[in-house]
Amino acid sequence: MCGIVGYTGSEQATPILMRGLSRLEYRGYDSAGIAVYNGSELVVKKAKGKLSELAGRIEAAPVAGCVGIGHTRWATHGEPSDINSHPHTDGDGAIAIVHNGIIENYQELKEALIARGCVFRSETDTEVVPHLIRTYYTGSMLETLIRVLPMLQGSFALAIASKDDPDTLYCTRKDSPLVLGKTDHGSLIASDIPALLEYTRDVYLLDDFDIARVRPEGISFYDCLGNEKTKEAMHVDWDVKAAEKGGYAHFMLKEIHEEPAAIHNTLAPLIEIGRANKLRFRKDAMPINEEDANAIKNIIISACGTSYHVGMVSRFIFEKLAGIPTQVEIASEFRYRDPIIQDNSLFIVISQSGETADTIAALREAKNCGVKTLAITNVVGSTVAREADYVIYTWAGPEIAVASTKAFVSQQMVAYALAADLAVKRGKMTEDELADYLHEMDQLSAKAQILVDSWEIQAHAANHFRSIRNSFYIGRHLDAISCMEAALKLKEISYVQTEAYPAGELKHGTLSLVEDGTLVCAIATQTDLIDKMISNIKEVKVRGGYVIAFVKESETRIESEVDEVWRIPECPDIFTPILVAIPGQLFGYYMALERGTDIDQPRNLAKSVTVE
Ligand code: AGP
Repeated sequence: MCGIVGYTGSEQATPILMRGLSRLEYRGYDSAGIAVYNGSELVVKKAKGKLSELAGRIEAAPVAGCVGIGHTRWATHGEPSDINSHPHTDGDGAIAIVHNGIIENYQELKEALIARGCVFRSETDTEVVPHLIRTYYTGSMLETLIRVLPMLQGSFALAIASKDDPDTLYCTRKDSPLVLGKTDHGSLIASDIPALLEYTRDVYLLDDFDIARVRPEGISFYDCLGNEKTKEAMHVDWDVKAAEKGGYAHFMLKEIHEEPAAIHNTLAPLIEIGRANKLRFRKDAMPINEEDANAIKNIIISACGTSYHVGMVSRFIFEKLAGIPTQVEIASEFRYRDPIIQDNSLFIVISQSGETADTIAALREAKNCGVKTLAITNVVGSTVAREADYVIYTWAGPEIAVASTKAFVSQQMVAYALAADLAVKRGKMTEDELADYLHEMDQLSAKAQILVDSWEIQAHAANHFRSIRNSFYIGRHLDAISCMEAALKLKEISYVQTEAYPAGELKHGTLSLVEDGTLVCAIATQTDLIDKMISNIKEVKVRGGYVIAFVKESETRIESEVDEVWRIPECPDIFTPILVAIPGQLFGYYMALERGTDIDQPRNLAKSVTVE
């Protein structure tokens, strides 16, 4: 996520802004900038790269002034570059803003502003904001914000500086956090608590649509209609490390709890409400046009680890919805197999980091064969994003824990959207069917929240099973893939040897490993296969296995056959891999917690495997 800081007071702003930004570096970023009022102008300094790059530019041309805003950018719209870095200003630099989030309707706003003569410099969604403020400016920033903010769709945390009212900053938020603090020498704004802790432990949390007027002598709060409101400060006794995790014990747990937002934030920029109040894809949201969509003869997906599991789910979805023969390849195998890639293949790579060496090599192999390539990735401007013909981003925000969680569910959301888009363009899905499908997708965020909030179920089971040395995950069809991902989570962070198996395969060998007390998690969400799963569960039970079944809310036939039932909210079978992932991740997390392993940095592993 991006980092925001702001300061107005009696001390020089630049060092305070830079120190604040350094406290937010853990959030991940690819460029940074500040804007400081020097008594006559809002001076903007910004640079692609790390804070040291920005510091160098400031050192070369220092900026004096006691009020300013700063930003570390995690690129979403527009790849990392000086010009796309924040702050962004209106045409004559009278207003400067920094932003965290995604303005989902920025194209429409940008077109309208250009029609009114606004000149844009960057590729970002953010730059519409200073131009909107300037266009509707009444002389009162508060009044102007009350008018402008409802025009913005999506998520935003904004800090705003203006030449008109130079020692006053404004800030507001919707779905992206902002905190504020007061010190004996001024007032501060930040995206997150770590940036305030060296000045104050009493912080004000902005609520959605609140507007704060931040002056050296103090902070005033207003609701979205301009009514002044009082706020109680929250006392924070976290240390900086705990604050970087938002109070969660580990980044992995924080990122699991961010999954409902990641699911929403990945889908929302792709869809809009169309005719008859039905959901549809936004114009140009999906990169493959109708002609090219119909030219695709087959799809090859290549990835590693958790991203490979997304590819396995995607294969089912592309074949079921779009009718396109699809194969999935582990990237490290694909590149050494002298693969046959037919003309008119679409080659898809999936990579959270966009820098996995094996996946990049597979992508280059495909490009050498002259086929169209598409990347699904979480990092704007990453190698796969730059080298593929098409790219669709996940908006999970930086994923810091080695174990991939929110990126996994976000990648699946992109794959589900792409499959539906191809299905419609190839005449396999009607607009009405698409609307129903997108409606179901749009419900997944809230359903994910239910599962995240039920974490005690997994914590309790982990306490019971903390000493086991091995376990099984079994399932059929899409559930067999969910088993692979859940097993990887358990293995990679709790170090419990876990086999993931198509349930029908157990009797062909590994059933010999099941003995009294063996933990077997049976994922059984595919309605038509429940009876088959019950047979497989019986095979395990008669041999002494302890069975935990992952089933949908409405499932009733399995309860009497197993030892525990973990329920997921009702949803079409096709979408269960997204929801089932969450209890699987939570179980892996709490097992690791019970076993005292290094959860965010498991032994022998790296977050991005940039070497073979
Ligand atoms: C997932 O929990 C693992 N950390 C790992 O398998 C990861 O998914 C794999 O290394 C691929 O990484 P990428 O998505 O960044 O390419």
